[in-house]
Amino acid sequence: MSFVQIESLTKKFGDLTAVNDVSFEIEKGETVGLLGPNGAGKSTTIDIIVGLRKPTSGRVLVDGFEPSKNGLEVRRAIGYVPQRAAIFEDLSVRENLSLAAEMYGIPRFKHRVAEIIKEFELEEKADKLAGTLSGGQKSRLNFALGCIIADSQLIILDEPTVGLDHRRRMEAWGFVRRLHGSGKAVLLTTHYMEEADALCSRILLMDRGKIVAQGSPQQLKSTLSDELVVEYTFAEMPSEELVQKLTALPDVVGVNRDDLSLKVTLKSGALPQVRQLVHESKLLIRSSSEKRVTLDDVFRHYTGSELREKGE
Ligand SMILES: Nc1ncnc2c1ncn2[C@@H]1O[C@H](COP(=O)(O)OP(=O)(O)OP(=O)(O)O)[C@@H](O)[C@H]1O
Ligand SMILES: [Mg+2]
Repeated sequence: MSFVQIESLTKKFGDLTAVNDVSFEIEKGETVGLLGPNGAGKSTTIDIIVGLRKPTSGRVLVDGFEPSKNGLEVRRAIGYVPQRAAIFEDLSVRENLSLAAEMYGIPRFKHRVAEIIKEFELEEKADKLAGTLSGGQKSRLNFALGCIIADSQLIILDEPTVGLDHRRRMEAWGFVRRLHGSGKAVLLTTHYMEEADALCSRILLMDRGKIVAQGSPQQLKSTLSDELVVEYTFAEMPSEELVQKLTALPDVVGVNRDDLSLKVTLKSGALPQVRQLVHESKLLIRSSSEKRVTLDDVFRHYTGSELREKGE
């Protein structure tokens, strides 16, 4: 039996279906990514797994326990790092961790607190008020709080790197890899496809409450492996006629014109015909590039929308 089993999970808030008939499983030791844009239903799904919300329908089992009935068992089996850090700013780092450890009834909790402070490199700040920590340090404390139970089998991280600069993000990736290395299963949500690509052995693509596709990063990309994106920048604006001719080619999936540039998504076999049409248009090409499939493209393929919002 899988460590986490989720069957036909649905959560409604009034008229809004935030999670819509979602089913998936998490095996011991695997790193699973829930990847989707804002409002996809990622946090709501997690809130139900950790027992913070009740589902409208469907079933969740964690290590054989139902979060809504056996809250204590589930909380002991999972370490949870919330999207918004739940930190008491007027307590020290050590006090924050001790409070959490006591709450979980961790035996010899002082020892465990010292251990976790070391693990998350918070020694220097251990006796400083949490409110005085930098953003990156707060994020480390948030991680540490979620990992305080030494023998939890699964760590759930809700958007672990949002708002972090590059260096802190890489540090957080390191923590996730370390958790995986120590044998724990990890479920993380993100709307950064490169994060899911780098960290997860399996990705669930979520959009508007539904899992629209799932597989390893490689499997997801290979569903579109036959596709290619060619981008041209011309010296003048490409004509409507060219756009129409390209669109009419049987193996051209999409054509996007934006001022001087033209982006053509095509099955690789159509490349010679596309090149021919562009050549015949006699437009002066300033630059051209061909791109491999990314998870962004996969997401667009399944949902028709962009994974990341513009300007992010
Ligand atoms: N308590 C609530 N009451 C009403 N609607 C809610 C509530 N919580 C979430 N929602 C709605 O449910 C949908 C899913 O929200 P959720 O927070 O699960 O998305 P998310 O995928 O975690 O997004 P983000 O990437 O922004 O964190 C959204 O449309 C949101 O507005
Ligand atoms: Mg969220």
